[in-house]
Amino acid sequence: MKKVAWGVLSTANIGMTRVIPAMQQSALCSIDAICSRSLESAQKAAQRAGIPKAYGSYEAMLADPSIEAIYNPLPNHLHVEWTIKAMQAGKHVLCEKPLGMNAEDVRRLLAVRDATSKKVMEAFATRMHPQWLKVRELVQSGRIGELCAMQGFVSYYNLEPNNVRNRADIGGGGIMDVGCYLITMPRYIFGTEPSRVISLVQRDPDLRTDRVASCILEFPNGQASFMCSTQIARYQRMQFFATLGRIEVEIPVNAPPDRPCRIVVDDGRDVLGSGIEVIEIPPCNQYAIQGDVFSRAIREDSELPLSLESSVLNMRVIDAIFRSEKSRQWEMP
Ligand SMILES: NC(=O)c1ccc[n+]([C@@H]2O[C@H](COP(=O)([O-])OP(=O)(O)OC[C@H]3O[C@@H](n4cnc5c(N)ncnc54)[C@H](OP(=O)(O)O)[C@@H]3O)[C@@H](O)[C@H]2O)c1
Repeated sequence: MKKVAWGVLSTANIGMTRVIPAMQQSALCSIDAICSRSLESAQKAAQRAGIPKAYGSYEAMLADPSIEAIYNPLPNHLHVEWTIKAMQAGKHVLCEKPLGMNAEDVRRLLAVRDATSKKVMEAFATRMHPQWLKVRELVQSGRIGELCAMQGFVSYYNLEPNNVRNRADIGGGGIMDVGCYLITMPRYIFGTEPSRVISLVQRDPDLRTDRVASCILEFPNGQASFMCSTQIARYQRMQFFATLGRIEVEIPVNAPPDRPCRIVVDDGRDVLGSGIEVIEIPPCNQYAIQGDVFSRAIREDSELPLSLESSVLNMRVIDAIFRSEKSRQWEMP
């Protein structure tokens, strides 16, 4: 199958350090161009990453007819605007999470996707990682009985004032940055949508971003709760509790590409862990898998694993969490 010609929208850190190197090693992606608001920075990035073409503006790269697909890792407030421009320029788009600033923002993509017939997906690489396919398979097989609840935690400590995560005006804060994973994964595992949510949010007094947030999501078939933070030492875990046992995902979001991922399955016979089996998922790169899944969907004109409609629903949960922060009550997504 012929590789898809990709262009990268900006010299964003996540692209340069993780996603570009992974896609360059994948089977179906060719990273042919990168652009930046400054030509000098695009050229430097291209040289560093071994990318053949560099453009000094986003528009110039979108005008390149040889580029078939765009990877969009711009700050959150620019996701929808540039994804629309890329689709209108005839490109398919893989856009970073969260897909926009709110559900209304993301909904704008639906009409453009339908009018242009381009493929577009939120870059939740976790949804394609084999460890998550395994968790879903284990839950669906009944191995831990009937699923009742899920609990998740993701934190890191970052006070850099210019970091996009610490700028409230452009979609910063922990809920947008990592809470979005703690919503999409229980939706994926429960296979349903939350009917109501409630949140407790602590904001940084200067940055005004959410720095510690606790949220409860009621699903028709269970409960999910999570905590996320931008100012607590780095840690992450997700656990699934069921009538006969428990599943723990050790590194749910930033799965390492160079060592196995571990899923703990506990049959609950005691609290000492005597009934624990550890399932190891062989090393793999979730960004390479994501690039190949998207490229294959382009070549075969097949469905993507994560629909735009599902991303709108994820954003609606985030919107409800922010409404609940203000109302201090349950809110319906
Ligand atoms: N999937 C994952 O695992 C993962 C991990 C980390 C981040 N992300 C997502 O990726 C996106 C980028 O995160 P990042 O940490 O890589 O950000 P970043 O390093 O700050 O990169 C953002 C880039 O956007 C461009 N830009 C255009 N207008 C800008 C503005 N007003 N302010 C700042 N930058 C602007 C800049 O590129 P030029 O100067 O070249 O134009 C900048 O380098 C976010 O949506 C984030 O949620 C995803």
